[in-house]
Amino acid sequence: NWTMKNFIETEIERIRTLVGPTGEVIGAVSGGVDSTVAAKLMTEAIGDRFHAILVDNGVMRLNECATVKKTLTAGLGINLQVIDAADLFLGKLKGVTDPEKKRKIIGNTFIEIFEEVAEGIKPKDGGEIEFLLQGTLYPDVIESISFKGPSQTIKTHHNVGGLLDNMKLKLIEPLRELFKDEVRQLGELMGIPHDLVWRHPFPGPGIAIRILGEVTAEQVEIARNADHIFIEEIKKAGLYKEISQAFAALLPVRSVGVMGDQRTYEQVIALRAIETTDFMTADWYIFEAAFLKTVARRIVNEVKGVARVVYDITSKPPATVEWE
Ligand code: XMP
Repeated sequence: NWTMKNFIETEIERIRTLVGPTGEVIGAVSGGVDSTVAAKLMTEAIGDRFHAILVDNGVMRLNECATVKKTLTAGLGINLQVIDAADLFLGKLKGVTDPEKKRKIIGNTFIEIFEEVAEGIKPKDGGEIEFLLQGTLYPDVIESISFKGPSQTIKTHHNVGGLLDNMKLKLIEPLRELFKDEVRQLGELMGIPHDLVWRHPFPGPGIAIRILGEVTAEQVEIARNADHIFIEEIKKAGLYKEISQAFAALLPVRSVGVMGDQRTYEQVIALRAIETTDFMTADWYIFEAAFLKTVARRIVNEVKGVARVVYDITSKPPATVEWE
């Protein structure tokens, strides 16, 4: 009889057998529920012989890196190494405006850094890293063998597949038989904070694909701050769980505004909030007018460089969830 508690025990035993008494495992974490649950399972099974890597690519959300670090280390006891590579990523993104190029640069740079870090890890017993942890879920398994969804064919999704080719690592996928809601249940059971368990999905290329045009440190700052206000208001209004995904995109067009008695000429923030079950199709979320009014007022008042806020009322299809 299958229960979540049984699953945890069985999976921990399976990991221990697979890895053996001295084996070492490496895995990337993002702060999302899948990689965190997978990392927590691994920590329960083999302790510090699991090495989690969090790469700060400079395009994560406001304070995200620090928050994830604290939750995973102090909160969950995961052996985590944080690599600050923000400048490296932003340097490589300089002058790049094409969405697919942004994805490729971020994906490839991530793989380079991950390989370098993996080579630098020298386990105490003189062994070597043999395994790579991935938080693959059942729907990902199905999709990759039998069906390519629109988001897979239209956009190259960032994954760590490239790591396996170069590093000759064996794959461990403890969540490969689970659906998202089961992973969340598992997360709650393993003491992962509620906020992290219910976090909206966040793309690997981060806000780089939510800043149209060139990604610079200044643009990242604007997009981040606007996004933070939007999400904060969504949480305050008790709507976070009802919405499947929400974010602010920064449009590099300038628009005239007026602040006090000053004329302004600044950029535009587009808010996106959707409801979906599978992300293959999505409806835009219907907010109350007063909510949108509050968010718009706060963003223009509090985020320097924004003169106007618009709300995206396009469903998927024909639009995608992300703007790039
Ligand atoms: P789209 O924009 O394709 O998004 O309708 C569907 C879901 O996929 C996420 N997404 C990505 N996730 N790397 C990711 O890891 C990507 O390059 C990427 N592009 C889109 C998007 O956030 C949404 O949840």
